Amino acid sequence: MKNIKLSSGNLIPIIGMGAYFDPEIRCNTEKIINCALECGYRHIDTARGYDNERGVGDALKKSGVKRDELFITTKLANEDIRKRRTRDAFYESLNDLQLDYIDLYLIHWPTDGYEEAWTEMEKLYEEGLIKNIGVSNFHKQHFDAVLPNAKIIPVLNQIESNPGITNVPLIEYCKGLGIEVEAWSPLGGGACAKEILSCEALTKIGDKYGKNPAQVIVRWNIQRDVIVLPKSSNEARIAQNIDVFDFELTENEIQMINALNKNTRSGPDPDNFNF
Ligand code: A2P
Repeated sequence: MKNIKLSSGNLIPIIGMGAYFDPEIRCNTEKIINCALECGYRHIDTARGYDNERGVGDALKKSGVKRDELFITTKLANEDIRKRRTRDAFYESLNDLQLDYIDLYLIHWPTDGYEEAWTEMEKLYEEGLIKNIGVSNFHKQHFDAVLPNAKIIPVLNQIESNPGITNVPLIEYCKGLGIEVEAWSPLGGGACAKEILSCEALTKIGDKYGKNPAQVIVRWNIQRDVIVLPKSSNEARIAQNIDVFDFELTENEIQMINALNKNTRSGPDPDNFNF
């Protein structure tokens, strides 16, 4: 697995298993994460708001994979940011995940109180309870609000990025600050995955390498140094999404995928959300 080096000096595996599951299948979290670990994933991305940290923790515990081989991300929920309860919420996550440290802790959305939350997260980082701290769904104005008073620069920003909304200017802005980028809903998420994964251009590129459109998208992210979090509840697809290290896209193919951009979000807009 390829790693990306974060500004903290720590490494993060470039592919992570996204652990947001619809409520109907959330009860299968332990089984799905167990399957991902068996397929070779070592980076798991969950959140307090996904309501499945206990299931993720159970899978990690039962897997027997050594703690230092795992990279576990969770996120501070909006409600906890608004209630100014960062520290308590962090301990709740730690307890449900059954871990004694978190590899990466993120502000989930820039909701009221996120600037104060960052200061609290810096303290938890300094206490060694979190190895890396970062943000999610931040636009330039959110960085402008946090960075002037920050002791620590966020290691990364987790944003929506897929061929329907490549988000290239935001990626370039973050990278210019030394902030890495992670892509959520890399395959188009629930709303757009069907259309994106049946796109002719991606199918054609994939046919050349004996890969499917999902694998082409994961590979596109790897080659543009964007950490990618594909998610699936299906064993075969979980395995496919990590089987992307035996082919290389040409520069022209990368540009063709970039050109699919329509700025169509599958998820909420960080400048206009109400949850
Ligand atoms: P499923 O769980 O049935 O596999 P994203 O990662 O962008 O949020 O998108 C995930 C969506 O894409 C899910 O609906 C998932 O459905 C589907 N998906 C994940 N991996 C693949 C794949 N390799 N081929 C086709 N669909 C996939």
